[in-house]
Amino acid sequence: MAIVAKLREHFRKKPNRPQRPDADGVTYRPLRPLDERIEGWRVVIEDGRQRAMYDRVAASIDRSAYAALQEKYRSEIEAADELAVTKYLDLAPWFMIHSRLARILNIDTRPKCSILDIGAGGGQFLTIAKTYGHDVLAFDRPDPAVYGDLLALSGIPRIEGGVMLGEPLPDSIGRFDLIMINGQVFDVFPKSGGKRWTVAEWASFLEYLTATHMEYPATLFVGLNKSAGPTGVEDFLWPLVDLAEQHGATVERKRATMHYDLAEPLEFEEVSKQPWLTLGKA
Ligand SMILES: C[S@@+](CC[C@H](N)C(=O)[O-])C[C@H]1O[C@@H](n2cnc3c(N)ncnc32)[C@H](O)[C@@H]1O
Repeated sequence: MAIVAKLREHFRKKPNRPQRPDADGVTYRPLRPLDERIEGWRVVIEDGRQRAMYDRVAASIDRSAYAALQEKYRSEIEAADELAVTKYLDLAPWFMIHSRLARILNIDTRPKCSILDIGAGGGQFLTIAKTYGHDVLAFDRPDPAVYGDLLALSGIPRIEGGVMLGEPLPDSIGRFDLIMINGQVFDVFPKSGGKRWTVAEWASFLEYLTATHMEYPATLFVGLNKSAGPTGVEDFLWPLVDLAEQHGATVERKRATMHYDLAEPLEFEEVSKQPWLTLGKA
């Protein structure tokens, strides 16, 4: 039996056993009371500004609307929590992760700005930004439903769609002071067995994105996801991180994140590439 099917069977039989930690070591408990989870995760935050952001976003959540969401997803969680995107319902660890990013990006102190989150998921980063008065917009696929429900819980608008190689983003998205792309997976070609964008394809996308959807001065944050490349080995696309560093981005090597403060659109002249809108065309 495939490993995934074995795990599913294992948890289906014993829904009350402790849940499997995610690959990042977090054990998600989306059915526990929100305040218990918020208190539990708060203790791991050492930075005072990050903790203040965490506290503010935690206080912003409508408790009864949240409890209703837990009920909506209860049977799905009990059936297959260890594999499901319902882990995003467990807000506390995500508020911890995203309040760290919000601290890096000075979400608490920067003047009111417009923020786009591409592949926003449940919108925890935008929820924090919204509590500081920023104008926020999510861009993501319509499924799974739990993302839309979490965005609705925080009153965050979403434009539905996806980043596709060589395709423009919808015009209606507009231009932003800050674009967040974290833990993204759009660089993995669908049905390709894990084949993912090259550095050249990323460079084309970032040139297009910064020329078409940013207002200057601007901030762009990209946090990679590990994905199985052509060799089947899970790793970050390190040459992209190296390229970002050469172009002035602050990078965090532990997490493969790139933080650009930009005065103008990115240009990666040393990278041999095609313009974004010509990619993938015959
Ligand atoms: C691992 S989750 C990360 C969610 C969120 N950014 C975070 O940091 O918690 C990956 C996200 O990418 C989105 N996604 C998948 N394919 C996409 C595409 N082609 N374009 C944009 N987003 C996509 C998923 O719907 C999901 O929201």
